Amino acid sequence: MITPSRAAAAAALLGVFEGGRRTPEDWDAKLEGQDAGLAQALLGLVLRRWGRLQAWVRPRLREGARGLPVPTQVALAQGLAQLAWLDGVADHAAVNESVTLVSSREWGFPPHRGLVNALLRQAASDRTSLRRELEGLPAALDRSPFAGEVLEAAVPPDRVSTLWERLQVPPRPAFRALRGDAPEDLEDSGDPPGCLRLREGAPFPKGWLQSGAGMVQDASSQALMAFSWQGAPKRILDACAAPGGKTTSLGLRFPGVPIVALEQDAARARRLEANLALRGIPAEVVCADAAGWLAGPGPAFDLILVDAPCTGSVTLGKHPELTWIGHRIPRPDLLRRQARILEAALPRLAPGGLLLYAVCSWLPEEGMAHRERLASTHPGFRSADIWGRRWGPPGAFRPDPLTWEGEGFQAFALAAPSPGGA
Ligand SMILES: C[S@@+](CC[C@H](N)C(=O)[O-])C[C@H]1O[C@@H](n2cnc3c(N)ncnc32)[C@H](O)[C@@H]1O
Repeated sequence: MITPSRAAAAAALLGVFEGGRRTPEDWDAKLEGQDAGLAQALLGLVLRRWGRLQAWVRPRLREGARGLPVPTQVALAQGLAQLAWLDGVADHAAVNESVTLVSSREWGFPPHRGLVNALLRQAASDRTSLRRELEGLPAALDRSPFAGEVLEAAVPPDRVSTLWERLQVPPRPAFRALRGDAPEDLEDSGDPPGCLRLREGAPFPKGWLQSGAGMVQDASSQALMAFSWQGAPKRILDACAAPGGKTTSLGLRFPGVPIVALEQDAARARRLEANLALRGIPAEVVCADAAGWLAGPGPAFDLILVDAPCTGSVTLGKHPELTWIGHRIPRPDLLRRQARILEAALPRLAPGGLLLYAVCSWLPEEGMAHRERLASTHPGFRSADIWGRRWGPPGAFRPDPLTWEGEGFQAFALAAPSPGGA
């Protein structure tokens, strides 16, 4: 039998390396306490050190050049990660469970039982040397070409390694209180104001979140939504709304203003509706493709938020599997979708209205390249300077990834021509 924590981590790793899939949000939902802690540590370590773990194994194989099937790679990587970095795990648990894993017809590759057993026993004989050897291998081995491209887009070439190091530390979750006082386990970080962080060692505030009195929202989203604008909107549109973090921010900031929240994916639209109901945000949820819906008949909006589908490249730290599957993202299709939604949104802005476009990506093609194109195709729309200089050049929001603790964003704001032509 394999313990549930190791089974869950192995299943998630197979999903990434064999299926090219993202780690599902609920991958560890059935685990509790120490089991959940072990599974999370294991998954994070293997995803963040995958390149070095494979580089340790390769020269020890007789048929190294031909490589190993993915299930064997996963079983070995899990065993090695426990031996090298999880001091609380006993040798026999790390070795035997990986052997059991590879013995499973469902997940493993039984012919490699002996190989996995032999390599892990060798590693277990001197765990300190194993750790030293793994950490002595070049950190760049853990970066895929996709991760390299993202880092180069984010910072100058001489800061790439520094940013990569920062991304190896899982980001701390951030929260927002929506009503009442926040639990004592949360403290106001002050940056941005109202952004709450968990006190050292405090348990995750599940009950508070489930009650709708608070929500998880990254510091970058909070800073982005604290834009300074004097407009008094009569109608707001959130064009890509699920799961509803920013719709909630809009609802709190502009109480009583009708909000339409669009979401293309039916399951996500249901989740959006449930989240907004729980939080007491009265928005009208519509399940539709934003570009098609915007091109149809309907009123103008004074404020339109397009938090567009994107590669999510700023989340390499939170979602380390992205390093290994980012190259599979259909980027041309995403870019087309972003452009279509933007093109359809501009004509639906009321005179003097504000469009906010945001992506959680550092790739310029997903952000500023759209603004440049729109500047030539829609010259009447002005760049709107709604974030301070700390966040980027006028009209743009792009926090410095090397100093800012949030995940990051790339956003711009455009103002529709005013009635007087100002
Ligand atoms: C970055 S997420 C939005 C996050 C959300 N604004 C929040 O703060 O919680 C982008 C969302 O857009 C949805 N989406 C993708 N293509 C869309 C389209 N053409 N029309 C409307 N929604 C779309 C995705 O399903 C996803 O839920």
